[in-house]
Amino acid sequence: MLRKTVGKDRVHRLFYPVVPVLITSKADSRVGCMPAISCTPMSFNPLLIGVSISPSHSTHKIIEKSEHFAVNWLNHVHASKVAYMAEVSGREVADKISASGLTVEEGRASPTAIIKEAAAVIECAVKERHSIGDHDLFVGECLVAYAEEDFEDYWLFRKYVPMLYVGSERTVFRRKYVALKS
Ligand SMILES: Cc1cc2nc3c(=O)[nH]c(=O)nc-3n(C[C@H](O)[C@H](O)[C@H](O)COP(=O)(O)O)c2cc1C
Repeated sequence: MLRKTVGKDRVHRLFYPVVPVLITSKADSRVGCMPAISCTPMSFNPLLIGVSISPSHSTHKIIEKSEHFAVNWLNHVHASKVAYMAEVSGREVADKISASGLTVEEGRASPTAIIKEAAAVIECAVKERHSIGDHDLFVGECLVAYAEEDFEDYWLFRKYVPMLYVGSERTVFRRKYVALKS
């Protein structure tokens, strides 16, 4: 098979499509919220979640201060609101979440903010922060996780239909997911 060389400025796009999450955090009265694709489980025991965030983002500063963050999954119907969260920074719009049409709620087990409309949430306490190139990797220990009834041992996808991020230059979000059959 003939494969063409992919430029290093395009390599991250080989990972697409990706289900983006919203990372939220709260310090004092400031609430941070940003979409992230660099978020993944890193250890089962202890249960550690990693998210890689640029220090230029206002959410980064809020997580540093609060030492807590939450991971929020939203149904595809909220795709345009998630896209909005990436278009503006908390530096410019103080209450990004309300401005997007979503709702902020208190976390269940930590002093953090979560998204009321989220299909699932993980609340984390930051255990480690590593500087990795132009991003910082926050490693958070899961304090509590909750999901709507469409999640049993796995997602059933009866109600929750994830959004897929396919890259900003072409289509920002596609509204359907494709199930891969093994
Ligand atoms: C789908 C998507 C995923 C993103 N993933 C990340 C990510 O994993 N890490 C990161 O630092 N920025 C990521 N970004 C960029 C931030 O979400 C964006 O710059 C945001 O506006 C930062 O907001 P803030 O300054 O209010 O924190 C992503 C953007 C999009 C559209």
